[in-house]
Amino acid sequence: MNSQVRLAHTEVSTPVTPKPALLSVEDAKALELAKMTEIFTSHLNPGQLHFMKLLGFHKIKVERADGMYYYDQNGRKILDFFGGFGSLAFGHNHPRIVAARQAFQNEKRHEIAIAFMSQYAAALAHNLAACSPGDLDMVFLGSSGSEAMEAAIKVAERAAGPARPKIVYATNSFHGKTKGVLSITDGQLYRGEFKLVENNVRVPFGDIEAIENAFRSDPQIGVIVLETVQGGGGIIQADEAFWKKLRQLCDQYGVLWVADEVQCGFGRTGKFYAFEHYGVVPDVTALAKSLGGGKAAVGAMIARREVYMKAYGTPKTAMIHAMATFGGIGEACITSIEALNVLYDEGLIDNSAEVGDYLLERLRALQARYPTLLKEVRGKGMMVGLEFHDFSQAMPMVLRPLLSVLDEKLKGSLPGFIGSHLLRDHGVLVAFTEYNRNVIRLEPPLICERSHVDDFITALDEVLSRGIVKIVRDFVTAQMK
Ligand SMILES: Cc1ncc(COP(=O)(O)O)c(C=O)c1O
Repeated sequence: MNSQVRLAHTEVSTPVTPKPALLSVEDAKALELAKMTEIFTSHLNPGQLHFMKLLGFHKIKVERADGMYYYDQNGRKILDFFGGFGSLAFGHNHPRIVAARQAFQNEKRHEIAIAFMSQYAAALAHNLAACSPGDLDMVFLGSSGSEAMEAAIKVAERAAGPARPKIVYATNSFHGKTKGVLSITDGQLYRGEFKLVENNVRVPFGDIEAIENAFRSDPQIGVIVLETVQGGGGIIQADEAFWKKLRQLCDQYGVLWVADEVQCGFGRTGKFYAFEHYGVVPDVTALAKSLGGGKAAVGAMIARREVYMKAYGTPKTAMIHAMATFGGIGEACITSIEALNVLYDEGLIDNSAEVGDYLLERLRALQARYPTLLKEVRGKGMMVGLEFHDFSQAMPMVLRPLLSVLDEKLKGSLPGFIGSHLLRDHGVLVAFTEYNRNVIRLEPPLICERSHVDDFITALDEVLSRGIVKIVRDFVTAQMK
């Protein structure tokens, strides 16, 4: 049937199936805050709305996003130092990435890559292998960090063999919310009462002795999974000696090391992979977030060829964990291919290192000015944590009753107050940390310039200069209005 005939057919016949009361694309763009709130409550996540309200984030409708900024319904610019937890290395709507996607659509390229080999998936796999050190050469493509990490633990488990099914993971780890990786995610909130994969072994992050003891005492351990820099834990790092020794112990005991680089990879710390700072190479790694150029949902597992071949290297085993329906989908691959090219063409990894150093330096100067508020500044490149003191004991007695009206999540924890003031009074967005509510996470786009850092520091300085009492009192007053 040619398209004209089909068009004529759809025009004349009345569909039998009645159309529900659907919103159109234009309706969606035009939704107003009140209606969005209603739909969010009825159909998405009423509990999450509670937190948005707490912080004043529910008053914002983003109409546009460009580079380092969101623009809200009133045309107000919001400087993005949250960066989608590291998903926005290129900022919002990078022109080269947008153009590559538009060209792909205009050329009517194919998307689903199940029946035939895909030139787009092939090129992306080539690029990822080219960016990865050692023989990290074999690629699995998916559409989220969780899916990439599921693929990582599965390839490692199969390569380790059935006699060694146990996984070592770290305190305060976050590897995703699907059930496999939830089993090695150390958050009671997320794990809840789910029935998870048992017998995994938890060690303190960065504790090499605990790891050595575990490897020595339990021959069933076949895999260790660690974020190279813990994001959800509050930007926690281990030193070079730890990583070097880890590699040595893994080789000695035949344990496979999976490095989760979903948040800290892709140039965020000033190297393509954070583990490259330490001159070591894991057996398996995973990327997601900015791999999709801020426009597509893409995750990738990259394994050493030997590991991959052991797990899935024969025609009989090849389909055990082959890519899912949307793994390697055309436009997502094109987006990632262009994203990787832009990352190097624009020197964004170097920029992350250089401007990241400047950000850390300016934050450390602020810490010296406000030592009773700011406890620690830490991080690498553009993955930075600001840890505040728990203020519950610092509040004057007369004001303590005020705290009783606050949500549990805010008691003693300054980031909520500071983030809320930064947004309301300065149009600056920062991120919070679930596991450690005293930590603000800064993961600005890697296109961030010194002038953006200056604007951010001016805003943060002004909020901190108000002092603890005013910061809390203003917040509580706004809540009660
Ligand atoms: C280190 C790490 N691993 C895995 C994930 C899961 O990624 P996703 O949310 O795309 O499933 C995240 C997400 O924040 C992460 O930070």
